[in-house]
Amino acid sequence: MELKREAISFIDFEPEAADFLSEVLDGLTRPQKSLPCKFFYDSRGAALFDEICRLPEYYPTRAEHSIIVENGAEIAALAGPSAAVIEFGSGSGLKTRALLEALETPSAYIAIDIARDALLASTRALARERPDLEVIAVCADYGAGLDRLPEIKGAAVRRLGLFLGSTIGNFEPDEAIGFLRTARALLGPGGALLIGADLWKQREVLQAAYDDSRGVTAAFNMNLLRRINRELGGNFNLGAFRHEARCVEDTRRIEMHLVSAVRQQAVIAGHRFFFGIGETIHTENSHKYTVEGFHAMARMAGFAPRQTWLDRAERFSLHYLDAA
Ligand code: AVJ
Repeated sequence: MELKREAISFIDFEPEAADFLSEVLDGLTRPQKSLPCKFFYDSRGAALFDEICRLPEYYPTRAEHSIIVENGAEIAALAGPSAAVIEFGSGSGLKTRALLEALETPSAYIAIDIARDALLASTRALARERPDLEVIAVCADYGAGLDRLPEIKGAAVRRLGLFLGSTIGNFEPDEAIGFLRTARALLGPGGALLIGADLWKQREVLQAAYDDSRGVTAAFNMNLLRRINRELGGNFNLGAFRHEARCVEDTRRIEMHLVSAVRQQAVIAGHRFFFGIGETIHTENSHKYTVEGFHAMARMAGFAPRQTWLDRAERFSLHYLDAA
């Protein structure tokens, strides 16, 4: 762990070096091949994700931003003055800025993200804009290493967790509850979590959001193979896979897959993997919720839902949950 003082404080738990290779090998060895979606976000992946957020078909970012802007005063009243804001994932920045502007004199902003480049870029930019704010960047896998975070500053103040973008939806339901439990412990008594949850809706809308006409989501998905090739010396033939988004009704989620167009093999660090025609690598789940279902999940993790806001088109929900 390294601690550096610049415009921001930077705490590096060095999450990925060994984990990337072992998690890739593990995922590709399963009967249904899979790769963890947290590895999408190298610097190219983060740039592609920013582009996704601006696509006409990808409504969640705009919907959530509008909820924060329209209800900023009410959110600020619930959070009270001088809260330490702890964000899981460093986000695209715009929504976070809108929230920090709405809050009454936040005491610190702490961003936790596995994607080091994107984390440093976004926290440094924020620190330049808000010299009044103490900014701390923590490079860590918040899906795993949250137990190491209590040592981070801000222990004495009230903590407001931020988990935007419906990123909670990337976890399986049991993992989501596990994450919420850990987050609740970290936020402590008197703390709260402001969390976005995308709502289940017509499959055409969901399908288009995850398979856009410009192919940006396809490039984002394919970038995972490109990253494996570059960072792990893999030899995936990128032209022989295609992007697929599947709307799965019974689990209420969108699955992203990379479909092998041919019979082929790929070698990563001396390990050989075989793909049949049409065989897929499952790369992401994006669960969609109802307000009631989401509240039930939050309660199971020990949170007390305080307030819920929807955007005007009622596509997306934002929840203020008391750590109770
Ligand atoms: C990381 C949860 C914001 O699942 O919607 C966007 C990632 N994947 N398009 C989501 C994503 C495909 C996104 N979040």
